[in-house]
Amino acid sequence: MAILFTGIKQLLTFAGDNAPRAGAAMRETGLVKNAAVLVENGIIAAAGSGAAVARHRLAKKAKKIAVGGVCLPGFVDSHTHAVFAEPRLKDFSMRTAGASYQEIKAAGGGILASIGAVRRQPLGAMAAQLAARAGRFLECGTTTMEVKSGYGLSLESELKMLRAVRAAAELTPLEMLPTLLAAHSVPPEFAGDAQKYLDHIVAEVLPRVAAEKLAVFADIFCEKGYFTPEQATGYLKAAAGLGFRPKVHSEQLSNYGGTRAGIAAGAISADHADHVYAEDIAAMREAGTIAALLPASNFYLGLVKYPPARELIAEGVPVALATDFNPGTCPCWNMQFVLSAACTHCGMTPEETLCAATVNGAWALGLGGRLGAVVPGMQADLAFFNADDYRELCYYFGANQCVMTVKKGKIVYRKP
Ligand code: NIG
Ligand code: FE
Repeated sequence: MAILFTGIKQLLTFAGDNAPRAGAAMRETGLVKNAAVLVENGIIAAAGSGAAVARHRLAKKAKKIAVGGVCLPGFVDSHTHAVFAEPRLKDFSMRTAGASYQEIKAAGGGILASIGAVRRQPLGAMAAQLAARAGRFLECGTTTMEVKSGYGLSLESELKMLRAVRAAAELTPLEMLPTLLAAHSVPPEFAGDAQKYLDHIVAEVLPRVAAEKLAVFADIFCEKGYFTPEQATGYLKAAAGLGFRPKVHSEQLSNYGGTRAGIAAGAISADHADHVYAEDIAAMREAGTIAALLPASNFYLGLVKYPPARELIAEGVPVALATDFNPGTCPCWNMQFVLSAACTHCGMTPEETLCAATVNGAWALGLGGRLGAVVPGMQADLAFFNADDYRELCYYFGANQCVMTVKKGKIVYRKP
């Protein structure tokens, strides 16, 4: 049966070109006041003014749900590390005592500190834990997220992480796109020999992951002390040759060359981009690479510097926003906080942040055209908020204003 969501004070449709939004187009929200959304078989049948939608042939017999508030496309979180076994509370204490991310790594914390627990955790427990976390994303209005491996760093444990994502997908309505991030750090077994480890991933891990179809994307952490730009390009090209779409963690802690290394291998997005310079930005615009900004991680690490969103937008690079949810640099699953951080610390407008967290997030996952906008024919993924004006989503922070989440036309969360 069709469902008609009525009484929406403000609906942001993000109707527009079937392409990532850049420049001024990032501020075009497709706002409709006094709106309604009609859904049938998981697809949007009509969206617009309440009066116009009521005239649709399916509207009369549809089940009517009066929701009010603000309605958006469900958030598409294009960058998470949502599979991990334990929070890194020791790292947190060290950082509150003044240590930097790099100093914590040198003291045995950081990514490698997550490995032991991930390697020990059974697949079933890992999947159940991920599904429980997915429930928290849904409560905050996120309907799709990318999930990376990268805390196992051995063939068996990386396969286990990706199989856990597949198993968790059976336990939650949240849609998850898996990414192989075996190239997150060099594991102890390879004693600092990054190239030898990458060769091992290419020879042993990528073919297995490809054979089991366990990941859509391949990602690498290109940074001093992790993997070099040359290694990143070579690795991502090899992954692309096996059918993975490249992505890159680049320019997070320094300007190191990861962005252009990723672009050389055809990366769909370059993520973090805190330290991009003019040449990186020009290369991104030229290649059509999406900049996935993760300002909640800057907030959590207490950094002064944030990604240069204004320059990226002025130069025509499509910007996406994601949580980077992970145990080391961003234990936050609420995209609404990311909107606030992007407004306050990156100088983005509320309109730009909402575009970046929905339609551009979808494009960063290669899903634009199906997800990220409330237009007829697209998947009915919706998030409803207790607000009179969409700007309240960016204005109030540290709170969850989401009251209902709809995935493929089904209500998957409703605030009690
Ligand atoms: O995106 N930078 C690399 N990866 C994560 C952090 C991983 C961790 O510290 O566990 C990030 O910030
Ligand atoms: Fe990350």
